[in-house]
Amino acid sequence: MRIAVMASGTGSNLQVLLDTVHGRDGITVAGVASDKPGALALERAAAAGVPTRVFPRADFADRRARDAAIADWLDELGVGLVVLAGYMAILDGAFIARFAGRIVNVHPSLLPAFTGLHAVQQAVDYGVKVFGVTVHFVDEGVDTGPVILQDSIVLENAVDADAVLAALRPLEHRLLPEAVRLVAAGAVRADAGVPRRMLIRRDP
Ligand code: GRF
Repeated sequence: MRIAVMASGTGSNLQVLLDTVHGRDGITVAGVASDKPGALALERAAAAGVPTRVFPRADFADRRARDAAIADWLDELGVGLVVLAGYMAILDGAFIARFAGRIVNVHPSLLPAFTGLHAVQQAVDYGVKVFGVTVHFVDEGVDTGPVILQDSIVLENAVDADAVLAALRPLEHRLLPEAVRLVAAGAVRADAGVPRRMLIRRDP
């Protein structure tokens, strides 16, 4: 399966995908798209020999036009799965419809708690004791799509969001590649009775 990664920032999750998924089990990272011209993620992709393209919002009439251009490029690349790895822009509904059921995102909270921006800060401010990471399919809502994998850690005295995010990094870096492998292998399917509930098939 050919996959694309979309990233706006440092791209540590992209790096793990390049290091542990790209070129294995029939999975190729075929391209990396970003909305941010200077994103470190683009350098990581280039260093791995993966094609990159930047789609700055200012180059397009509106978000819909920008996202249509991204979708056209992903189709040219023959991409079957789109991975949002720190892609910080909201995607247009037409983009999501075009790749329906084929977009996954990694989010630093135990969804459905703490959607949207600054999820870890929201959790710290709420005073929760269990923090976590969710990999989920993307639907038209913000962090509302079907959950694929989650993992958690207990932090009883979390006061600093940056420290919590650092503690969550290893979970993200394990969970996202695992979810991509499972989806690419066809091991994630919707429960017939409750379609938003994903069932995972683990090979023995
Ligand atoms: C991660 O914390 C992810 O959960 C969120 O954006 C961040 C991306 O980090 N969606 P990186 O660019 O992969 O280092």
